[in-house]
Amino acid sequence: MLDFSDLIDPVLIMKNTLFSLLFLACLGPLTAADKVAGGPFVVNVTARTATVVWILQPDDAVMKSADGSEVHTAPLLHAESVRFTGLKAGMSYDYQVPGNPDLKGTFKTPLAGEGQFEFVVYGDTRTRHDVHRKVIAALLQHCHPDFAVQTGDLVNDGDDPALWPIFFDIERDLLRQVAYYPALGNHERHSHNYSDFMQAAPYYSFNWGNAHFAILDTDLGNAALSEVARQTYWKEQTDWLAADLQKNQKAAFRFVAGHHPPMTAVSNRQGDNPHMIALTPMLEQYHVTAAFFGHDHNYQHYLKNGIHYVITGGGGAPLYDVDKPPVGITQKAVSTENFVRVRVDGKKAHVEAITPEGKTIDDFELEGKPGGAL
Ligand SMILES: [Fe+2]
Repeated sequence: MLDFSDLIDPVLIMKNTLFSLLFLACLGPLTAADKVAGGPFVVNVTARTATVVWILQPDDAVMKSADGSEVHTAPLLHAESVRFTGLKAGMSYDYQVPGNPDLKGTFKTPLAGEGQFEFVVYGDTRTRHDVHRKVIAALLQHCHPDFAVQTGDLVNDGDDPALWPIFFDIERDLLRQVAYYPALGNHERHSHNYSDFMQAAPYYSFNWGNAHFAILDTDLGNAALSEVARQTYWKEQTDWLAADLQKNQKAAFRFVAGHHPPMTAVSNRQGDNPHMIALTPMLEQYHVTAAFFGHDHNYQHYLKNGIHYVITGGGGAPLYDVDKPPVGITQKAVSTENFVRVRVDGKKAHVEAITPEGKTIDDFELEGKPGGAL
């Protein structure tokens, strides 16, 4: 039974250094039994819009079994969100849920044109929570990202509601200071939890400064029940990608991110993702600058036909060997936990792969294409 004396104040304050704004938000009732299981964090950020999300967990329901013992249900999580419009490009916003002083954070909106910005790419945070925690701590120590791209496998089973609060607890300090752009991994299992919590379409794109980003859903295995439906889904997605990249040829940088990589140095996984291998000519045709993936729990960097392919799946899942680096294209292959920092400055970008110990394992420059007017 709801106790309306415990409703939170349905007002969210969003402000920047220049002005304060009040927004009325239709929030669901937060009862005394509800607790915050994740967030807040910010997704779907564009120059003018953003969605603030937090995850609530009602108190456990308790049932009596036939022998009189208590059975606790798995937590039923659900997301609350508020969509903001009318924001300004290149601004920093603070947000807070009144009545909940702990529910606050900061994010930036994308730059409108060429400039300086920083983002991080990491993924496969699904297991070894202590290692995941170290990776996030090191990332926050060595980076000051405007936004984060997650290459997927956030949790070990997207359908398991017990795992998401652990993920959100470990990622708390990162999520409260960046715009978050996740990709679906196979361990998300195309779950309702993922789409509800991340408020994300399976694939989507966004711009930041003079860079364009396309985030793919490479997890065909969980996309549909039949092979025909999976192929239809992939055809729709790759048609969308071609049009999206074509539309953004003026960007100085075109970045693609997803979970399954087209190549790997893990010998027993080579050739595993034929749909991704088949995709690479399209990435070349539309002059993609760099593509980021996960799925392999290590760090790999390839340069093939002008495109940098980076695999950063070192967020906590058990490490894989890099025992058979592809000949002729391998720039680096190291079996270690890692995250990747990208600093864009005008038409140059500096990419650095870093271990949780703060050691740089790879370091290279990207040249943006002339133009850069999005
Ligand atoms: Fe994976």
